[in-house]
Amino acid sequence: MSSIEPSEVKIKELISLFDKKQFDELLKLSNELLYNFPKSILLQNIQGVVHTELKNYKLAKDLFIKVVDLNPKYTDGYYNLANIFIKLNEEEKAIENYKEVIKLDKNYFKAHNNLGNIYRRKGLNKKAIECYLSTLEINSNYKIAYYNLAGVLQFYIINEENNFKENKNISDLEILCLSCYEPLTNFDWSNKIKFSNRLKEIFELHLNQCKIENQISNSIKSISKVKDRVSLNVKKQYEENPYPRWENIGLSIEPRNIKDVISDSDLKLDLKKITNCDSPEILIAGCGTGQHAITTASKYKKSKILALDLSFKSLSYAKRKANELGIKNIEFVQGDILDLESIDRKFDIIESVGVLHHMDNPHKGWKILTSCLNNDSLMLIGLYSEKARQHIAYIKDKIDKLKLQSSYSNIIKFRKDLIEHNNDKWNAIKSSPDFYTLSGVRDLLFHVQEHRFTISKIKKNLDELGLVFLGFDDRLVIENFRKIYNKKSNLYDLDKWQEYENYNPRIFASMYQFWCKKL
Ligand SMILES: C[S@@+](CC[C@H](N)C(=O)[O-])C[C@H]1O[C@@H](n2cnc3c(N)ncnc32)[C@H](O)[C@@H]1O
Repeated sequence: MSSIEPSEVKIKELISLFDKKQFDELLKLSNELLYNFPKSILLQNIQGVVHTELKNYKLAKDLFIKVVDLNPKYTDGYYNLANIFIKLNEEEKAIENYKEVIKLDKNYFKAHNNLGNIYRRKGLNKKAIECYLSTLEINSNYKIAYYNLAGVLQFYIINEENNFKENKNISDLEILCLSCYEPLTNFDWSNKIKFSNRLKEIFELHLNQCKIENQISNSIKSISKVKDRVSLNVKKQYEENPYPRWENIGLSIEPRNIKDVISDSDLKLDLKKITNCDSPEILIAGCGTGQHAITTASKYKKSKILALDLSFKSLSYAKRKANELGIKNIEFVQGDILDLESIDRKFDIIESVGVLHHMDNPHKGWKILTSCLNNDSLMLIGLYSEKARQHIAYIKDKIDKLKLQSSYSNIIKFRKDLIEHNNDKWNAIKSSPDFYTLSGVRDLLFHVQEHRFTISKIKKNLDELGLVFLGFDDRLVIENFRKIYNKKSNLYDLDKWQEYENYNPRIFASMYQFWCKKL
């Protein structure tokens, strides 16, 4: 029996001509073949596709109509025809044909997506969203549909809050999509959402945890009213975007006393000369969202931690996490490091990581912390490195020149520009996980106050404050350094570290974190 279609070899030849964009040859060969195979669907279809490429839309339309007449079950034919109707601005006919495709094959995701595009153009946002969601349910890797969905969501959900008032159902996927863009608590109708079991975690993350933190916030005491201009700006930033948002941390199973913990380290210390109280008092200055304070609270036996921060929102996050983890030895208080003297307390350990460089005058803050130290006490400080953050400084400089305020839309738009432009100087930032969350990227690039340090600047500060350098804290950094400088005494020689950093500019990418104590 003779076939109505040419041989596979011939079809491959046509496809190869198409791939090479040799359209004239393709049309010539297919016309010759049509002579022997006048009812070939594949030949008419490929000719239709070629005429589409050549923008001969009317010809293409006639060919696709022929295709579906020849085989009314040929989905690609309806799909191609629908695409042509779009080109010819005949939207209703396009809709009709996409629907035909979906009727024949409900998993034809591109038809769902294109149908969504037509509805979107017509302003039928809800219908468009439904189409994009169907597309993604079939093929969750189809990036174009995410892009389209994001575009339409901007206008839809916010404007269509009435849906909730009218008690119409919004699907889980719609809620999930929206929650990727904004905290659901930002919408005053969010308490009307009926969360299904599948969205239990979203409910926890977006609504319940916020509710708990709001309640906790009322229980946090202040040591004083913040007055310093920079501290007020920093407070505002972290009230709006507490940072870092974290889920899990590794905690010490067995708390130990200070001496046992220190004896495991390489710190330059005479163990006899460090504080050895039963119940050490520890200050975490600038505790943020609590990761650091909670780790320390689980590390030192019978410790009493005072965790201070400017931001109520960060403190509430921290206290919620401490409660969840059953940590009971932390008192969270709100206030400025600049006002610490007013509490008139001394501590056995003071830790302040990632904080002083956000003050107007870090030296002044550091001096106040030093005044809260007992003579045999230890201090852990974390400061940004100028060298390690060169790529960040470059971008921050650009933001300053553009006079960009840190509004939500500015941050999102600027980050999008960075992603889209392949500039060598910008690319390093893209490997930072912080770049991909709002609170992270604000902390990273849009901070209201950022100083950066060099080792010699640190040395000068230590001298002026009467502090002695005891060693860096990061084990990995120390191990790498020792591969080059193997004498133990080098570990405490800041000039050697300076030399080392000159050759390894990114070595302090996660800050200079070091221990010191009073001379
Ligand atoms: C980048 S976060 C670091 C938080 C925490 N130390 C950590 O490592 O996760 C900086 C925190 O320092 C706090 N901070 C900045 N200046 C402060 C000041 N003058 N007094 C108290 N806290 C301050 C901010 O509110 C913010 O929560």
